[in-house]
Amino acid sequence: NCSSADAEKDDLQELLHTLEQHKSWDSRPLVRYERIWLPVMLFRPILTSQKHFKAEGTDIILTTMPKSGTTWLKALTFSIANRNVFSIHQSPLLSYNPHTLVPFLEYTIYRDQDNPELENIPRPRIFSTHMPFKILPDSIRESECRIIYICRNPLDQFVSHYHFMLQNKIEKDAIPLELDEVFDMFCQGIQPFGPFWDHMLGYWNAHLKNPQKVLFLKYEDLKQDISSHIKKIAEFIGFPFSAEEENQGMIEQISRLCSFENLKNLEVNKSGYFIGSIKNSSFFRKGEVGDWVNHLTPAMAERVKNLTETKFQGSGLVF
Ligand code: A3P
Repeated sequence: NCSSADAEKDDLQELLHTLEQHKSWDSRPLVRYERIWLPVMLFRPILTSQKHFKAEGTDIILTTMPKSGTTWLKALTFSIANRNVFSIHQSPLLSYNPHTLVPFLEYTIYRDQDNPELENIPRPRIFSTHMPFKILPDSIRESECRIIYICRNPLDQFVSHYHFMLQNKIEKDAIPLELDEVFDMFCQGIQPFGPFWDHMLGYWNAHLKNPQKVLFLKYEDLKQDISSHIKKIAEFIGFPFSAEEENQGMIEQISRLCSFENLKNLEVNKSGYFIGSIKNSSFFRKGEVGDWVNHLTPAMAERVKNLTETKFQGSGLVF
């Protein structure tokens, strides 16, 4: 009811005021919650979804750091799970951006609502989030639902994020920081949903603990061999390809439909907007591995390499 919802909002507002804040790369504020830097604008949606979202056993939750392959993973998972509902030639991906088809809990579903209607979504429901593992809604961790995580070389993720921010300067008077300055913040872990190594390690450890529950993917591996990863995702979510589908070239068709070139050139992705202000086109920049060499110095790369090695030491995770 209304008054308990208002009380909940007041509590969150109060909590927000007790937490440390820092200017983000795009001058918008970040707040430090549970040692994670969250965009202040997402604080309420995140905490509300934590409290209210009820995962079901058949749900599929796609989890990422921003700019790590979220859009691609959404397109692939949606196409794999719905291949018997829509033919490839009539795929909703041809008319809708992947972020419309697979909504974020924090940017979309809980953005303005405490109790959104999620009952009528066809099963399996596919949702996404940038939340680190440790602050996921309990029901996601506790139910039988599946989690797919994709991460990416931190240097490419950083470069991709920097360009995304420049593409989507939202506030007129926002002063974008210089690359050096942003890079320094990145190395300190100050970035949306950062530190990046904690984000990766959270899902990595969850995957090691329960590989049936958490699939751990790397962007670079998908770039190298998309077909085997489409099969892997299909098996993981309980929709394996039949021999007949394989013979008919279904995997190749999904791979082509979801390819960078194909999605980038669709009208909806050339002209549309996501949550009002973010250009759909900004989700499709270069789609390459190793573009960081064109933007970062060897010394910067060395700094991240050393940092990553130290943080990942003993975890079995390598980048
Ligand atoms: P670049 O900026 O390096 O090009 P996210 O989807 O998590 O926001 O990540 C965006 C990054 O993924 C961008 O990287 C974007 O170009 C790339 N990308 C988007 N769609 C892709 C696809 N279908 N295949 C490969 N890369 C894709």
